Amino acid sequence: MNASVWDGAGRRIRIQEVGPRDGLQLEARFVPTKEKIALINALSSCGLEKIEVTSFTSPAAVPALRDAEIVMREIERRPGVMYTALVPNMRGTERAIEARADEVNLVMSVSETHNRCNLRMSCSQSLSALTEAISLARSASVPTNVSLSCVFGCPMEGDVSKEEVSDWIQRFVDLGVQGITLCDTTGMAFPPQVVELATHARLRQITGVDFTLHFHNTRGMGLANLLAAISTGLDRFDASLGGLGGCPYAPGASGNICTEEVVHALDLMGYDTGIDLSKLVETAARLPSLVGHDVPSQIVRAGLRLDLHPIPNDEGIKSKPRMVAAGAERQTLEPHAPTPLLLTKRR
Ligand code: COA
Ligand code: ZN
Repeated sequence: MNASVWDGAGRRIRIQEVGPRDGLQLEARFVPTKEKIALINALSSCGLEKIEVTSFTSPAAVPALRDAEIVMREIERRPGVMYTALVPNMRGTERAIEARADEVNLVMSVSETHNRCNLRMSCSQSLSALTEAISLARSASVPTNVSLSCVFGCPMEGDVSKEEVSDWIQRFVDLGVQGITLCDTTGMAFPPQVVELATHARLRQITGVDFTLHFHNTRGMGLANLLAAISTGLDRFDASLGGLGGCPYAPGASGNICTEEVVHALDLMGYDTGIDLSKLVETAARLPSLVGHDVPSQIVRAGLRLDLHPIPNDEGIKSKPRMVAAGAERQTLEPHAPTPLLLTKRR
């Protein structure tokens, strides 16, 4: 990895929020429409340039987002923020345009099996549907992005070759989309693979198309993958507040890289994300009560690096046993430095 990746030197990195869509789409409890709108409005004030608000999919396939129209219509539109929505087909494109989405984010998988499972279409059927959708969006002057799922591997087919991925990218460049997102849908990417694909596909040489990387943190490599991508010159990433999210077709597949974790790390490395971390963390801290369970975010759990903790009093120290090795006899241990389990101070 290029050593300069550790030194952001004020370089702009664009973090795009996908929590309201990728994060909420699989939640078992239906998040009430008003609460979704409040979440998006709160995110709008954090300095994000793009927020994926919802998806215009079949309500039978994604019941959690069946209120897409109302959400898209009723959010406050903050100038400078692009409010996008995911769509899989023509019907979704018509609905998104009608609801005044700023961008249509078309989706298909580069894996035949994943595409059939997720969208009930072959890749070539998806390509024809999206080709039509692009021309409809163009006639309505709505920009299009295409999100290509499983470009770093499919949980059912395994690796997808970089040549195949490059061919898919070229098809959509030729169709005139404004953006392409390379999605690691089920967290299979690893840093050298990210560098290899970015280099092979010559992403930096393709002009007129914004490339976004979309990593899931399923195997704990999300942040490493993001830094690998930055080392190749890429600068746009999707992330999800609280690290919410998942894929129904990969058991154990977990959420996107977590927005506040990424912004926290990039701030420390001297990158400029333009995002207000305190506001973001405040918004993330409200997620557990919104979704009814803990969220993966380490920042929600542990706080920021310099959120200080009180020194425990003597009682606190004595009553807290150290970890005892499995099988070892329980014994009284020396007092030790506190483990910052509870967040006691927040900025
Ligand atoms: N919005 C609303 N309704 C839609 C729709 C859309 N975008 N696309 C299709 N429908 C409706 C059809 O009108 C039809 O309704 P009817 O039964 O009342 O006539 C019904 O859904 C079935 O249509 P069909 O074209 O046969 O779709 P399908 O059942 O084969 O499902 C998708 C295909 C793509 C619509 C569906 O699988 C889907 O929405 N998947 C999204 C999955 C997703 O978001 N995954 C996570 C993100 S990657
Ligand atoms: Zn995703």
